[in-house]
Parts: sequence; C-alpha cells; structure tokens
Amino acid sequence: MCGIVGIVGRSAVAGRLVESLRRLEYRGYDSAGVATLEAGHIVRRRAEGKLVNLGDKLAAAPLDGHVGIGHTRWATHGAPTERNAHPHATDRVAVVHNGIIENFRDLREALIAKGRRFQSDTDTEVVAHMVSEELEAGRDPEAAVAAVLPKLTGAFALAFLFDGRDDLMIGARRGSPLAVGYGRGEMFFGSDAIALAPFTSTIAYLEDGDWATITHDGVTIRNEANAVVARQVMQSNASAFLVDKGNHRHFMAKEIHEQPEVVSHTLSRYVDFTTGRTRLPDDLPFDFRGVRRLVISACGTAYYAGLTAKYWFERFARLPVDIDIASEFRYREAPLDPGDVSLFVSQSGETADTLAALRYCKGAGQKVAAVVNVQESTIAREADAVFPTLAGPEIGVASTKAFTCQLTALAAIAVAAGRVRGELSEADEERLVTALMEIPRYMAEALKREPQIEKLAKTLSKVEHVLYLGRGTSFPLALEGALKLKEISYIHAEGYAAGELKHGPIALIDETMPVIVIAPHDRIFEKTVSNMQEVAARGGRIILITDPKGAEATGVEPFETIVLPEMPATIAPLVYAIPIQLLAYHTAVSIGTDVDQPRNLAKSVTVE
Ligand code: F6R
Repeated sequence: MCGIVGIVGRSAVAGRLVESLRRLEYRGYDSAGVATLEAGHIVRRRAEGKLVNLGDKLAAAPLDGHVGIGHTRWATHGAPTERNAHPHATDRVAVVHNGIIENFRDLREALIAKGRRFQSDTDTEVVAHMVSEELEAGRDPEAAVAAVLPKLTGAFALAFLFDGRDDLMIGARRGSPLAVGYGRGEMFFGSDAIALAPFTSTIAYLEDGDWATITHDGVTIRNEANAVVARQVMQSNASAFLVDKGNHRHFMAKEIHEQPEVVSHTLSRYVDFTTGRTRLPDDLPFDFRGVRRLVISACGTAYYAGLTAKYWFERFARLPVDIDIASEFRYREAPLDPGDVSLFVSQSGETADTLAALRYCKGAGQKVAAVVNVQESTIAREADAVFPTLAGPEIGVASTKAFTCQLTALAAIAVAAGRVRGELSEADEERLVTALMEIPRYMAEALKREPQIEKLAKTLSKVEHVLYLGRGTSFPLALEGALKLKEISYIHAEGYAAGELKHGPIALIDETMPVIVIAPHDRIFEKTVSNMQEVAARGGRIILITDPKGAEATGVEPFETIVLPEMPATIAPLVYAIPIQLLAYHTAVSIGTDVDQPRNLAKSVTVE
C-alpha cells in the first residue's frame, strides 16, 4: 500500500515524479523519495513524513536526471523514518516497492552472512542487494531481475533503476498492481492510472507474475515463465477526473457533498429511470433464480456496505447471505458449494484480503461478482461479473461517497434479484425503484443539516468515547459511524446493534458518554426507543438522528436531535450516512487532525 512511479524520460523527471506521487499519496504518506541518474549514477532524495518534505529537499538540492523512480510509503517493516524511506539502493541499482517480501528475514541473513551491509530495516532492501549480486556476477539488468524474482515470496510491485542505464527501467508485479504508461519517446510505470494521468492516458496493466522492461521507445512484457507476452493496451479516463478539492477545505468534505450526484450516476447504471425497472448486466454469468446462498466478503467500510446488503438480499430476494470480513473469511476455509455465488465489495479493487477471499471462492468453483469503484483494478479484472460504482476517484482516506455508491448498487441488485426470483412483484419493484430514485433528493436535504452538525461536533470533539447504536440496516451504519469518527478524529468509538446494549456495553453509560442513536421511524423504531430509554435512565447523552415522527415519539429528552425528512425505509441507510459522515468530519476539523490523511492509515490496503 505504497505508491510507486517510474519514468524513462527525455527531460528532467524529478518534478514529474513528485507530481505523480502527489496523486499516489492516498496510498501512504509516512515518507517519500525519488532516485534519478545524475551523470549516469544513482542519486536519491528521501524525506520522512508527507510529500511536501520531499519537495522541500528537492528545492534545496535539485536533481535533473532524465530517468527516475519515486515512492510514497505506508510503513510495514521498519519505522517511518528517512532511513527506511524508498528508494533503497546499492551503487548498482535502486528499487521502489509496494507490498511485502515475506521471506525477507531469511534472505537478509543470507546476504549479511556474505558480507552485505544493510542501511535500513525494511524488507525491500534485500531486493536491491540480491539484484546487485547478480549484476556483480556479470549478468545484465534483465537477467539479474529474472534471477531474483522467483526467490521472492509475498506480494509486490517493484520498479528498478540501474546505475549507468538511462535508457532502461524494469518493473515487476506479483499481487500488487503495476501499470505501464505509453508516452511519446518516453515510457512510465505507475501503481495506477491516476498516477500516470499527468503523462499519458494510454496504459497497460501488468498481470500477476509479469515483469516488464521499458525503454524510451517501448515495453517488453514477460510472464512468470519469462515468455514475452502481450497485454491489452487501453485508454484510461483517469485524466478526466480533476484531483482537486474544488471550493472545499478537504477532499473528504468535497466527497461528502458530491454524494447526491455520484449516487444518481451509479443508480442510472442499475435502474431505468423511465420504466422504473431494475436492470442487471446482460452477460451475468449466473442466474439469481438458481442461487441458494450468497457469500459476501469485504473489509472496513465496504464490509459495512455488504452487511447492509445482507438485510436487502434476505428481505427482497429471500436469498440467504453469509457475510464475513475478508481477512477472516480467507483463512477460515469455509465450505462452499460450487453452484453458489460470492460477492466482493471494494472501492479500490486492490485490497489484498478481499482479493485473497475472491481467489479462494473462485478456487472453490463459485461464480464471483464484485461491486468495485476502480474499474481497471485487480478485483474488477478477476471477477466473473463486475457491478461498477460510479463514485469517481475517492481521495479522502476515509470512505464516504464510495460507501453510498456501494449501497446504491447493492440495493438495486438486491431488488433485481428479488424480481428475478419471483419474490417481488412488478409493483413492488416499481415502488422500490421509485424510492431509490429519491435518494439524491433526500441526500441534498440531509446536507442542509450541516450547520447544526458542525455546532454539535464542537461538543463531540471534547469527549473521549462515543457509542453508536442502530437496529436493522441502521446497525451497519452505527458500525460505520464509529469507524468514521475514530479513523479521522482519533476519538474512541464503538458501534453496537441497539439490542445488544443490555448484554454488556450498557456498563459504559454514564453522564459523560454521548450515545448516537440512528433511528428512522420504521417498523422497529419502538424497539430502539426502549434501548434509548435504557441509556437515558443512566444519564447517557443521546444524540438522536431520526425523522419528524421519530422525534415526536421517543418519550425521552435527547441532548440533541438531528431531524431528517421522512423517507422510505430502504433508502434510510444511504441518507442517514450523510449526518454520520458530517459529524465525524466536523469533529475531526474541530480537533484539528489531518482529515484527508489520518495517521497510520492508507487508502488502498494491498498488504495482509
Ligand atoms: C474506511 C475505509 C476502509 C476501507 C477498507 C476497504 O473509511 O475506507 O475501511 O473501506 O480498507 O477498502 P476497499 O473498499 O478499497 O476494498
């Protein structure tokens, strides 16, 4: 979950490497570095912390080589210091790496035994030494890399820069993504299309096991068996997306406000606005009629989207759903029926745990489908069926618009499945689709509560712990609310199913504990009211998010009530997500944390 870039160029590359790294910073921001060839020799500039520190170093000591590699790091092995920042280098080769070399300890010991001296605590440095050894033994760069790659275990995307070779760079991919960019007399490597967008929109994705040599004029791609292969060259539309904050202070604020638009965009993919009918892709490789069980797996916020979908698939399609966090699912060796379908949810499409779970299901003979935001991603390419979300690039590390677009796609797919399975009538479908079409309007209405939420956030910013409660589809949203708050404000927060409160967490309630209750006035509202009363009786400070009917019917005096319009129950989790996100956002702003790049996190988690 680092970002890498490489340029074999015809003019100075350092500035362009930094520009590309700025677009990759969402993948990690513990340190950054570049290496170029200056008068034919490897020279590095590296800095701890954000990319701006590297920019300062380059301004003080510029580089003007025409070939170079760059890296932005999310620390795994070794503290986030300059010493551990990539590129790692010997006097013959420099390397940048995204992923984890799992057997690095053994490799490092063997290298040390041979007298090699290490300068960092990273797993990556072994790769630089191993390639160096091969070069010293007289191999050329390609033979050296070909000799080393089979000795590495784990996941990686690598880019190598060779001393004395300003016409050549080698990249390799196993597990972590790597794209080749085609320019005019220049060639590029990058972790994704967004990184390459300033240079070119013509790209090819390496497949697992591939490694590639780029020169000024082209690329040679080889597979794991070292046979030359052709990979599809495509036009990426990443450059169409402006990666800027618009009039907003943070990407997260911009992305929260974009939701009515991107949700509507996503919805248009799954429903026909004129007929009021859902639509599934024509080439779906399975028929919902024959599916006996749906297995859903994802991580973090995407998992909460999947958990919400469980309620919808079971209710609308009477389709039993098993759902698990991908990092647990992949190792629990769940028995799977070959005829069943598994569904993966991912914004980035690169999350290592989700990808491993997908491969497990594929290996068990299941048809695998994926709800994915990045269409060129590994998960999108490996799934048998792709359900795209059209959220556009999500730059804020805390997911907002990708989450509601996932919910949008999942709700529509569940309704479509219900219709196909004969569990919903045409009239049911029409009623549900009409409700889905109202989401953007209700979201716009919910955004109007921002001034109230901003004020409330000032109070919340002073507490140490917060509980979130909800029932039904408000339960996954309670989990999501707690995740959102803790990841960007660093306030400890927990989400619970409201009915679980009495089984333990109620012990935490006292007059210092804010309890955020998500409770639209739906068929289980009364049950949530009972739980609220349990909180009120113990002095807990209730912040209630509800609708006008709910606000009237609580029988308790909340500390604060956020009132949203009355709306169909199906769409409530999408609309109620807005105050939940705004509350986390404004609390973090009020505390003064780094909202878009919270500590210790990265956007794309390509390690286990
Ligand atoms: C939280 C967040 C993460 C991601 C998770 C999965 O705000 O963004 O919990 O949802 O890392 O990432 P994707 O969706 O890219 O698979």
